[in-house]
Amino acid sequence: MNSALTPDAVVAAERWTAHNYHPLPVVISEAEGAWVTDIDGNRYLDCLAGYSALNFGHRHPQLIAAAHAQLDRLTLTSRAFVHDQFAEFCHRLADLTGQDLVLPMNTGAEAVETAIKVARKWGYRVKGVKPGQAKIIVAADNFHGRTTTIVSFSTDPDAHDDYGPYTPGFQIVPYGNLSAIAEAIDQNTVAVLLEPIQGEAGVVVPPAGYLTGVSRLCSENDVLFLADEIQSGLGRTGETFAVDYEGVQPDMHILGKALGGGIVPVSAVAARRDVLGVLQPGQHGSTFGGNPLACAVGIEVIKLLEKGEYQQRSAELGQRLHAGLETLVGQGITALRGRGLWAGVDIDPAVMTGRRASEALMERGILAKDTHGATLRLAPPLVITADEIDYALDQLKAVLG
Ligand SMILES: Cc1ncc(COP(=O)(O)O)c(C=O)c1O
Repeated sequence: MNSALTPDAVVAAERWTAHNYHPLPVVISEAEGAWVTDIDGNRYLDCLAGYSALNFGHRHPQLIAAAHAQLDRLTLTSRAFVHDQFAEFCHRLADLTGQDLVLPMNTGAEAVETAIKVARKWGYRVKGVKPGQAKIIVAADNFHGRTTTIVSFSTDPDAHDDYGPYTPGFQIVPYGNLSAIAEAIDQNTVAVLLEPIQGEAGVVVPPAGYLTGVSRLCSENDVLFLADEIQSGLGRTGETFAVDYEGVQPDMHILGKALGGGIVPVSAVAARRDVLGVLQPGQHGSTFGGNPLACAVGIEVIKLLEKGEYQQRSAELGQRLHAGLETLVGQGITALRGRGLWAGVDIDPAVMTGRRASEALMERGILAKDTHGATLRLAPPLVITADEIDYALDQLKAVLG
């Protein structure tokens, strides 16, 4: 690898920013499809895809064209006025999710905050919970974002500690355990908030029947099932949404990341009219949420998903990825989880740390990132080819061997 410019650029980036990330020492300046190029001209296969924000690859031509066209017309109005991209975006997203109404925001954390606020308001106004008593059930090892309320119910000390006082009203239960949810539900419970597959925790897939059971428990007890599909949704798992594997329709879809096509931050919640309809003018909002540029890109993202091609790619190529990784179990990999083009790979600590594995992969032209010490997370763009998957697998084998 050529590294004439990279070391100084890495030092400069460290010098001028808070150290809230520990990036790999690669400085990217260009990208296309599944590939990125650094400032020294080295090329890498992107096997992280912006934590699923780049499901359609870097600079997908249809998305870039929509962004360019919109930049030349109209970029921001605020929600004080209506703009000509808004209705189509909301309508298409409502259809894609099978919901009635859509509320666009920007980042994933904002969409989760929106879901929490709507669920509480629904609890007070529709379910009849006494003021200030609403409870939301969440799972251990969750990751829903970084706001003060969201980190209040994180079980990860790095995400949680030193940010108190914390927001009350959340009960944490073990992930994948239905009876724990059944026991936790009481008359004040307004919602169960879950990732259908836990991404940051290491791509943890719940036991078969779990999502169906959660949905049943929620409807039996007049509780909302809020599915955080920010990382798992929009084709990543081989279906449009990870809940689709069990044919479950949550009361609310929470979306982000890939909704912005890797171009702009776009997030949203989608829900039935009796749920999202509790909000009245002035009760929630965002200056940038649902802006014209975001909606124009989001419309094209939804059009890409409407054809089903990316979901199919993810399902088929995901099988190839998982079959290849399976052969490495016992050869430097201790466990493997995931679905579609999404894998959590536990590296044998006797061989190396997850960090060292991602550094060694980088030196071989593959970008991936470790999570929680020993796990490598693979989430390549859905435009990756079969040959490129084989190439990535070869490099991983070489690194572990
Ligand atoms: C499941 C899930 N929810 C929420 C978020 C937060 O999204 P953002 O970083 O855009 O705020 C993430 C980000 O990784 C996520 O994976």
